[in-house]
Amino acid sequence: MTRRLLVTSALPYANGQIHIGHLVEYIQTDIWVRFQRMRGHEVWYACADDTHGTPIMLRAESEGITPKQLIDRVWHEHKADFDGFGVSFDNFGSTDCDENRELAQGIYRNLRAAGLIETRDVEQFYDPVKQMFLPDRFVKGECPKCGAADQYGDSCEKCGATYSPTELKRPYSAVSGAVPVRKASEHHFFKLSDPRCEAFLRDWTQATDRLQPEARNKMREWVGEAGDESKLGDWDISRDAPYFGFEIPDAPGKYFYVWLDAPVGYYASFQRICAREGLDFAEWTRPGSATEQYHFIGKDILYFHTLFWPAMLNFAGYRTPTNVFAHGFLTVDGEKMSKSRGTFITAASYLQQGLNPEWLRYYFAAKLNASLEDIDLKLEDFVARVNSDLVGKYVNIASRCAGFLAKRFDGRVDAAALAHPLVAELRGAADEIATLYEAREFAKAMRRVMELADGVNVFVDSEKPWELAKLEGRDADLHRVCTVALECFRLLTLYLKPVLPTVAEKVEAFLDVPPLAWGDVAKGLSADQPVKAYQHLMQRIDTKLIDALVAANRQTLAPAPAPATKPAKAATPVQPAPSPSGAAMSETAPDNAQTDSAHIGIDDFAKVDLRIARIAKAEHVEGADKLLRLQLDLGPMGTRQVFAGIKSAYAPEALEGRLTVMVANLAPRKMKFGISEGMVLAASDETGGVTGLFILSPDNGAQPGMKVR
Ligand code: MSP
Ligand code: ZN
Repeated sequence: MTRRLLVTSALPYANGQIHIGHLVEYIQTDIWVRFQRMRGHEVWYACADDTHGTPIMLRAESEGITPKQLIDRVWHEHKADFDGFGVSFDNFGSTDCDENRELAQGIYRNLRAAGLIETRDVEQFYDPVKQMFLPDRFVKGECPKCGAADQYGDSCEKCGATYSPTELKRPYSAVSGAVPVRKASEHHFFKLSDPRCEAFLRDWTQATDRLQPEARNKMREWVGEAGDESKLGDWDISRDAPYFGFEIPDAPGKYFYVWLDAPVGYYASFQRICAREGLDFAEWTRPGSATEQYHFIGKDILYFHTLFWPAMLNFAGYRTPTNVFAHGFLTVDGEKMSKSRGTFITAASYLQQGLNPEWLRYYFAAKLNASLEDIDLKLEDFVARVNSDLVGKYVNIASRCAGFLAKRFDGRVDAAALAHPLVAELRGAADEIATLYEAREFAKAMRRVMELADGVNVFVDSEKPWELAKLEGRDADLHRVCTVALECFRLLTLYLKPVLPTVAEKVEAFLDVPPLAWGDVAKGLSADQPVKAYQHLMQRIDTKLIDALVAANRQTLAPAPAPATKPAKAATPVQPAPSPSGAAMSETAPDNAQTDSAHIGIDDFAKVDLRIARIAKAEHVEGADKLLRLQLDLGPMGTRQVFAGIKSAYAPEALEGRLTVMVANLAPRKMKFGISEGMVLAASDETGGVTGLFILSPDNGAQPGMKVR
């Protein structure tokens, strides 16, 4: 029976680059999708960029572009990354499109008509300088439990406590540095606590043929058992202007919270596919539809997909997902990916460094299973595994046998040899491997395929075709051995094709066969269809490539090591060294090691937001020997307070009114004297300012707020 499947991966945020952590998910989904296609099913794989929300709005502002410009640029970057890794979306769209607005507003209207939307006042932190409500992550302050400085508004990275932003001590806005005030505003809620929602979610999440056991158990804690008191809180789905997103119907100035329209983006993207392919969207998405709908996600976004999304769909009159498949998180060498260690590896850097994307696809496949366990990329193991399995076991079979067929037998196989028991053994594994793919037990599938490859290598090693080729009168044996080996190689290729699509394509080209599908297991090579000359399939990984990859991703904003001929004066940041507790800094703070390379990429440079600033006010700071407090005017970007270590070189009066250059996107830092919201640049010699400090000035005509690039 031909199944009809809609499959999605989570929509990546449009404010960052795709990294190898994301790739776990897109590769996992893509393998499953390609497998289903090979089985002959009708599969549509939809994805999109997740484009709305405050971080994207602020990021665009800090880059001096509109949100639309930002998400357009990022879309192209993401698209190139996914293409590079062979992720075969049928559509990669954007949540910022008309289809998504229509669908999201329609769902909202239906929920409202069902009596599941409610409004009530919510008091939240408001940034009086920036004039906006602050999401939890944009309020910082001291942890109410342990007192650690510079903690986010939702949780403490020091002691792990979770709290609400209003509990923070000495809170400040991470956007402007201002002290936030409490302010009430009306919010729209999706009433998950409604008995209908609760009853529905209990059934939906606890059905035994849905959700992974770990996920189902987690959800049981959330939804409770029948008869329990309501545990589900209502879901706040609105945000106040300024917000980059969709307006809520009949509620001017109110926008859908990004997580409301994000999953709807699955359907918006699928709608594009339907329009292009002539599919009936309503039929696919109606309750009771015979089609299947699967969402692959990371375990961090389970609630959105197993509570909010199914409830939204159900009560808005749509079908619900057939299943949601969550995976664990990627670690590198046992630790969280880290920019300072160079293990926060971007997809783009991997491709740029010339690494083969199918190495990573294979490695992830060899690690993935159907559970929520985290998966670890061990860099040494990556090299060893790929070289030993893919090159040593799999490719090796073809490279040792295919040439003889082309050279000695006009590329024709020995039809009788196809009945060899080894061929039968490989064919016999097809169902087992298919079952493993279907169940997302990719690691087990890869292990099984490599076992089969081992068996083929034992056969080749014992028959020694390279020796047979030199002996008189052994042509028939050589023919038989090479035929058996090549047919086995064809089968291994078929089994690996969901993981290694490009290698499979090359194999199909040299075997001169149509694209391999699962049904081709039984259709062996034919003597009537000569194979072409063997072409090289895959290189071994050189460890040096991995070293270079890690070096390229090691992020440090420290000046590159001085070249042999030192310029007399180097621009030195005039700011005290970051405190070790600077949470926002820790991702990008240089570790003590110098960078390996004397160069940074233009992307690294572009991360530093340099702006022209007018020194509106400069004054001494009581109790500070080195610092001046500067009030910097950034024109349209507002004003900033910066503490600069330039007291030894400048009288405050001499500075007021002049223009200089500042780093505008340094995370604000709390100092003894107040918050510093950036830094000004100044030149000094190796003494770092003892013998003189010279702040920078732009040429005439530069205006406060202009970007320096
Ligand atoms: N925009 C939301 C998803 C909306 S879906 C309607 C989001 N975006 S994300 O860019 O942060 O993550 C996209 C997917 O990548 C998520 O499923 C997330 O779990 C996954 N991963 C992000 N980092 C990851 C790892 N380090 N390891 C494995 N998966 C990771 O969440
Ligand atoms: Zn704490």
